Amino acid sequence: MQILGIETSCDETAAAVVAETDDPARPWAIRSSVVASQVPIHREWGGVVPELASRQHVRDICGVVEKALEEADTGLDGLDAIAVTQGPGLVGSLLVGLSFAKSLAASRGLPLVPVHHLAGHIESLFLQHGPLPLPAIVLVVSGGHTNLYRVDAPGHYHPLSRTRDDAAGEAYDKVARLLGLGYPGGPVIDRLAKQGNDRAVDLPIARMTHADRNAPFDPGQFDFSFSGVKTAVLRYVKGRTAGEAARQAGRRGTVWAGAEPEGQALPAQDIADVCASFQRVVVEALLDRTFAAAERWHARSVGIAGGVSANSRLRADAAARGEAFGLPVYVPTIKLSTDNAAMIAAAGLRAFRAGVRADWRLNADASLDLAATTPPPSPSPHPGQ
Ligand code: KG4
Ligand code: ZN
Repeated sequence: MQILGIETSCDETAAAVVAETDDPARPWAIRSSVVASQVPIHREWGGVVPELASRQHVRDICGVVEKALEEADTGLDGLDAIAVTQGPGLVGSLLVGLSFAKSLAASRGLPLVPVHHLAGHIESLFLQHGPLPLPAIVLVVSGGHTNLYRVDAPGHYHPLSRTRDDAAGEAYDKVARLLGLGYPGGPVIDRLAKQGNDRAVDLPIARMTHADRNAPFDPGQFDFSFSGVKTAVLRYVKGRTAGEAARQAGRRGTVWAGAEPEGQALPAQDIADVCASFQRVVVEALLDRTFAAAERWHARSVGIAGGVSANSRLRADAAARGEAFGLPVYVPTIKLSTDNAAMIAAAGLRAFRAGVRADWRLNADASLDLAATTPPPSPSPHPGQ
């Protein structure tokens, strides 16, 4: 069976064809995966502009789907179903993919499968690595979410924690903006951090955990918080910028233009040090909770998915911790980490096999709840179900 996945929840227009295989170790194979990124459009504005995003999805969707079919060497006749991201995300963006998927499914008489965007990120791990040893603790860390899930059975995502304020990717993007590094912030901070000293700036890590590790389980104990570290970076940069501006004014008789992003006034080494220090505390916070949860629930593996899982330090530190804990750690390829439609097609295949279908009343839901969409246990004997 072969499924077309469509993803337009934020600023990437994506389509992919994923097929089932006969190999239980790798039950799904990517036949094609096409992503049209809108980053150059939104970069000019320092972040995603929802209205521009929906308009660009409308321009790109036909070409992206055509290309995905062409690269998979299939036509519409070769499809058995269509999976589409129903939410969460920007409602105008979601509506483009959803309306397209509904029209295509209706015109071809194909089943339509609604997919939760985060189920897609979780399934990116199964798509790439095949069935993970379960139970698995999966960290989904992206621009909009920072959540921990326990996966006890394929397709069953039990929520354990979330962020209480900013998502980790959002913190990366905000810190990059205040350093004058542009959008999106994750990749550039990741790159600059390699040249910095990660102990140069003393930044706080928010801790929710009770100091007594034997204390009764507190449901909030694995929650995340990143607004404090972002504010601490802002305070540090403001302090350093004031000093730097005064120093330069003394030397050249000029003062810094007030409209400049704070960080542009800092020397390059300082910026690299801020990036490295920020990244260290964010990665530590993510991995502390993830591995504490793995210990608490006797996990047999750890997975990390979502745009921030592309981060080089998060990947390296997670692998090192996994080794120390004796736990296998799974991450997707970089292409499967950030938004793509192959993960939506994979989650769609799983949901399809579990009997999930949408009717033509399906609507986009900007704040769709994953718990409400988790499919029931699959009757299918197909491997990986
Ligand atoms: O999953 P994704 O593509 O979209 C959402 O569902 O939000 O994640 C995008 C986020 C952005 O905040 C971006 O800055 C971050 O992932 N990101 C990274 C890296 N690459 C992308 N963050 C840290 N390091 C990276 N290398
Ligand atoms: Zn995403």
